[in-house]
Amino acid sequence: MKQQNRRSFLQFLGHSSILAAGSSTILPLLSACNDPKKIVNDKKNEKPIFPIAGIQAQSSDKLVLSEGLSYQILIKWGDPISEKDKFGFNNDYLAYLPLDKTKPHEGLLWVNHEYPDPLFISNFPRKTDAKTKTKDQVDKEMYDVGGSILHIKKNDKGVWEVVKDDKYNRRLNGFTMIPFDWNEPVAGKKEAMGTLGNCAGGVTPWGTILTCEENYQDCYGETDHKNPAKPKHKDSEYGWEHHYKENLTEHYGWVVEVNIKTGEAKKLVSLGRCAHECAQVWRCEDGRLVVYTGDDKNDEHIYKFISAVPDSLTEGTLYVANTEKGEWLSLNYEEQPLLKQHFKSQTEVLIRVREAAKLLGATPLNRPEDIEFDPFTGNVLVTLTNNLPKGDFVGQIMKIEEDSADKTGLKFKADTFLAGGPELGFACPDNMVFDPKGNLWFTSDMSGSLMNREERYKPFGNNGLFVYNAAEDKVIQVASAPMDAEFTGPYFSPDGTSLFLSVQHPGETSKSLMKEEISSHWPDGGENIPRAAVVVISGKALDELMKFDLKK
Ligand code: FEO
Ligand code: CA
Ligand code: CA
Repeated sequence: MKQQNRRSFLQFLGHSSILAAGSSTILPLLSACNDPKKIVNDKKNEKPIFPIAGIQAQSSDKLVLSEGLSYQILIKWGDPISEKDKFGFNNDYLAYLPLDKTKPHEGLLWVNHEYPDPLFISNFPRKTDAKTKTKDQVDKEMYDVGGSILHIKKNDKGVWEVVKDDKYNRRLNGFTMIPFDWNEPVAGKKEAMGTLGNCAGGVTPWGTILTCEENYQDCYGETDHKNPAKPKHKDSEYGWEHHYKENLTEHYGWVVEVNIKTGEAKKLVSLGRCAHECAQVWRCEDGRLVVYTGDDKNDEHIYKFISAVPDSLTEGTLYVANTEKGEWLSLNYEEQPLLKQHFKSQTEVLIRVREAAKLLGATPLNRPEDIEFDPFTGNVLVTLTNNLPKGDFVGQIMKIEEDSADKTGLKFKADTFLAGGPELGFACPDNMVFDPKGNLWFTSDMSGSLMNREERYKPFGNNGLFVYNAAEDKVIQVASAPMDAEFTGPYFSPDGTSLFLSVQHPGETSKSLMKEEISSHWPDGGENIPRAAVVVISGKALDELMKFDLKK
């Protein structure tokens, strides 16, 4: 696909001097001699050769990698991280921040733990009414979600390890009390019990983590406002509300800011309440922030928050996108008569932001998931995973070209950047990350029930990790996940030679814990139950991709 050339990229940087917080490791390795169109030249200046050869689609219960790459397991579900805490379930978003910039191979790793699988956590049988769960079973699930903070470092042998029992190692979970960063109570409370549904996220310019509460309705249900006079509770999948009646669903579905050095957290009400996939922060020259977030559900929307003052995630305005007209629509209660007709306050608009967005004419999208900023063009890339009821089973990566370099404008153009399907060899794009050279990497999220089962998904094999070779407009499959698993949370070390990656929900279609009904035994093999784990990918192929400077 068409990329802006280096000259325009440099002009773009000159105009804005802006760097996305999430891309703070990118620029040191991007240089004027690095052109995304020519990744590698051999000595004779022949045709560029991309250092990662790629693999075919796979369907084995293994983590398969392209030649020149290998992986190690950093940590897996249930491993102790301190005297009192264990690593949670279904690790997702990862962010690695060195403690000292001069020591890039030692730092803190934030890990999201998205959702529980009651079968593996407490042998709670499939297809059983969640109301029959005991409090102990619910408590185990609540403990296993949220996030982990880990002190990690690369040892003398080049292996990454968790520093055991370190002062930084801690958990946030379904019991952690977290205040709302807002000027009035949210559904009657100033703080919520727990964080959950922690899917993807982002990093702020000041080094805190944004962890996004996605499918909150699975834990505490949802409130149905179809009859405004009589809101109705819809039961959750996991049934937590039956043991924790004080915990209302309105306390979840927020973006949560976490200080990874102290574990302190707050729920950011200004960014609205929905199935937040991610929160990607752009900092303007004047210090204002523009935060993009996707609501991962069929026919939901993308939002952006523009702060009114520098470095604030509280004071500002939330907008929702109409991608057909290329307009950001304000969700400010005072500016929108329609919102005043339907809601009592700004707080209510933010709690029921999906309904407010639809009233204003937001465009329904095909499951908007992760968002990243293209370091060469400044464009905002958004993965649209799929929308099966609408016949979109492969998804795409959408490109948003804002009309203002600092992204505070309210007009934009939306277009397809990469289309899923057999031609490019991927389906259902989900998490994205740019490496320090500016190459786009992404993962796929075909659901376990369809992957390798439905005829139309069979050519894509298991879920994978991909990199876009912009020089040849090709998508290369770098890795294939074990059975039923999904790669999530790709995040590079600052030098780009280590790629942290989550392997999430291996064996999710297992029918029971009987050995013949377990669909994956990754990573321990044998008759072991599967365990989600964080892996680190490294090797010659990645080193070559990172160290190469284009010879002019
Ligand atoms: Fe948790 Fe939308 O992936
Ligand atoms: Ca996701
Ligand atoms: Ca990302």
